[in-house]
Amino acid sequence: MKTIIEPFRIKSVEPIRMTTPEERRDLLRAADYNLFKLHSDDVLIDLLTDSGTSAMSARQWSAMQSGDESYAGSPSFFRFEAAIRDLMDFKHIIPTHQGRAAEAILFSILGGKGKFIPSNTHFDTTRGNIENSGARADDLVIAEGKSPSLVHPFKGNMDLAKLEAYLEQHGDAVPCVMLTITNNAGGGQPVSLANIRATAALARRYGRPFIIDGCRFAENAWFIQQREEGQKGRAIKEIVRDCFADADGMTMSAKKDAFANIGGWLALNDDDLAEKARTRLIMTEGFPTYGGLAGRDLDAIAQGLSEIVDEDYLRYRIRTNEYITERLDAMGVPVVKPAGGHAVFVDARAWLPHIAPLQYPGQAVACALYELGGIRGCEIGTVMFGRAPDGTEAPASMDLVRLAMPRRVYTQSHADYIVEVFEELTAMKDSLRGYRITEEPPALRHFTAKFAPL
Ligand code: F0G
Repeated sequence: MKTIIEPFRIKSVEPIRMTTPEERRDLLRAADYNLFKLHSDDVLIDLLTDSGTSAMSARQWSAMQSGDESYAGSPSFFRFEAAIRDLMDFKHIIPTHQGRAAEAILFSILGGKGKFIPSNTHFDTTRGNIENSGARADDLVIAEGKSPSLVHPFKGNMDLAKLEAYLEQHGDAVPCVMLTITNNAGGGQPVSLANIRATAALARRYGRPFIIDGCRFAENAWFIQQREEGQKGRAIKEIVRDCFADADGMTMSAKKDAFANIGGWLALNDDDLAEKARTRLIMTEGFPTYGGLAGRDLDAIAQGLSEIVDEDYLRYRIRTNEYITERLDAMGVPVVKPAGGHAVFVDARAWLPHIAPLQYPGQAVACALYELGGIRGCEIGTVMFGRAPDGTEAPASMDLVRLAMPRRVYTQSHADYIVEVFEELTAMKDSLRGYRITEEPPALRHFTAKFAPL
């Protein structure tokens, strides 16, 4: 088979500023070994996130020119709403400035002390918003989803038996059932259509609204088309529609699978809930036809949604991470298998067994990748999830390093460079040391904590 090429050509470029390992060692120290504190000019290949970092298309840029900035009733809003309904047919579509704003609004209504909210795995902002409301967030992903090297086609699936027991146990204290597609914190792993439907059916049986966190819905649909029995050859758009058909609502970050640099939405079918959400929206985000966004952003999202379900794009997109994952695997770097949709995940705990989880092996790998190669990834492990709201610390279920691929931004030679940096790192990994945290905030500590090498 021929190389799967980038299905686009480049019209506008951004230079990368070259730096040396010596310079980066000093920059890292000045940033207290927290990669979130680096200036992005000092990064060669920025894989911190796939969120808001997409390259927009010529059509998106031109759609922005037709953005209408009216405070109320802008045609941009109606194009945004129509583009969403074309893929997920919810009754109420409420724009927000990004995904976490949709979460904050939803959980300000559904959350609260004494409530229990299950998901396959909550993303960190979702968990943060739930816990901030006083409710408890629980992750009920299937056991296979917690074993990085175990190959399973849908490692993001909800454990249905666990969910049923949870619904039995907590009864009316469960205000909704959530499902994250793909499962970002669990390695960008997909959820099957059968599992989405079964989760929806369970939620319905217990009379609980079923809400999808749909940030990477198109990548999830590609995996369904490729891997699920009976789905081969079906149009991505049809699969997407099926995924959302049984849901009562969704939260969305348009910074992922809508190719936008900013934006999101909360969608709901229930009139009463939507009314409450819009009231909250007006207080915190803006009027319901712009929700904290400019009209031009709504147009960029509308156009992006028509591009994200393109099969040539999705084939290239998913292949990029698969390509890097295969090459790392071949050189003995433990990676989450199969490759995730939006990122390559390295199992730092398995790779650096000499660094205990509470000395943050993921942080050690992330810092080393930056120093050696100027690559910025992100620890997704004990730093991110290790501190409980009651102040206690325990190892997270996995210590991963995520190399998230911005959409349509890097080429295959960037991917080859990443692999070469791992080759170098492999030769010296036994000399890497762990870290301790010297300062941290009470919640979401990974963004601002200060570290010191041990
Ligand atoms: N849900 C999931 C599954 C996410 O991955 C994110 C963001 C959000 C919700 C929140 O959306 O950023 O628009 O407020 N994930 C980014 C990441 C930040 O790097 O994975 P947001």
